[in-house]
Amino acid sequence: MSKKIIIDTDPGVDDAMAIQFALNSPELEVLGLTTVFGNVKLELCTENALRLLDLGGRNDIPVAAGAATPLQGPFPGGAAFVHGEDGQGNTNKPKSNSKVLEIPASEFLANTIKKYPNEITICTLGPLTNLALLIQNSPEIIDLVKEIIIMGGNIFIPGNITPAAEANIWADPLAADLVLGQSWPITLIGLDATHQTILPNKLVDSIRDRSNSALNQHVTKAYQFYQKFYNANYEFAGTYIHDSAVIAYSIRPNLFGKKAFPIKVETADVVSKGKTWPLEGEPDFENRPQLAAWRDRPAVDVVLEVDSEGFLELLLSRLV
Ligand code: RIB
Ligand code: CA
Repeated sequence: MSKKIIIDTDPGVDDAMAIQFALNSPELEVLGLTTVFGNVKLELCTENALRLLDLGGRNDIPVAAGAATPLQGPFPGGAAFVHGEDGQGNTNKPKSNSKVLEIPASEFLANTIKKYPNEITICTLGPLTNLALLIQNSPEIIDLVKEIIIMGGNIFIPGNITPAAEANIWADPLAADLVLGQSWPITLIGLDATHQTILPNKLVDSIRDRSNSALNQHVTKAYQFYQKFYNANYEFAGTYIHDSAVIAYSIRPNLFGKKAFPIKVETADVVSKGKTWPLEGEPDFENRPQLAAWRDRPAVDVVLEVDSEGFLELLLSRLV
């Protein structure tokens, strides 16, 4: 039986590949896309989601638009320097004729979770604002979610949007702190995991040449822009695989090794805003009042090991 998933996304070049990966995977039934501000403004993220589904011939999948700003403060500015002004590597595709749902993302999530209690996996590829709104508006669903798989955070390594923090968590640290503090089953796939696997530029060329599908041609074209950012900033000819790691985990969790920690997020607007702080071991809370912030936080499964060869093999087998 296939796994029912909802993808919460801010497309995003690597989001686009993750969506292609999910649509091509028979193990997954994609029940909807929900969009959130992130790599670009919400309006563009939503247009991109609709367009990606068009290109994949899957505009039967509903799209619900979510948060345009973090829980507090304005849109934090996005990452056009990584994903292009249009969020899709400046491919500037025409607008989709499809329409978004009339209900917001958090309501779509709540309705779908109630319709399929304990069957829904939520895959998040962007800031966690929609999930935070879901908790605030419909707390009764917390016990009804099967699993949440999050691309975000940096536990034992530096960040990417700042030296301290990973982009998705930095964009709305208050939302992330709320989500990571609930007693629902979370797997966090942060930079500790996603920096272990590189998608070589040459392999993207070969993916482009091996499938003429409109979605594959679009994603591999958008990747050219994304690769330029990596070429200028990293010493390898390829790109880290962030958002697709969530999809790979949802299909083959045994490719990944995890460890559980309670996690607090730096929510203040300071230099380490968005840093995800794990608490290791079994601390003596009674005698260590300094650790009070981690007390009563549930342990979150954090991916720290990746079978990179197996992951790449799975990804390639689904993209072409
Ligand atoms: O840090 C990687 C994350 O930030 C990915 O979700 C990518 O799409 C970017 O927004
Ligand atoms: Ca993303």
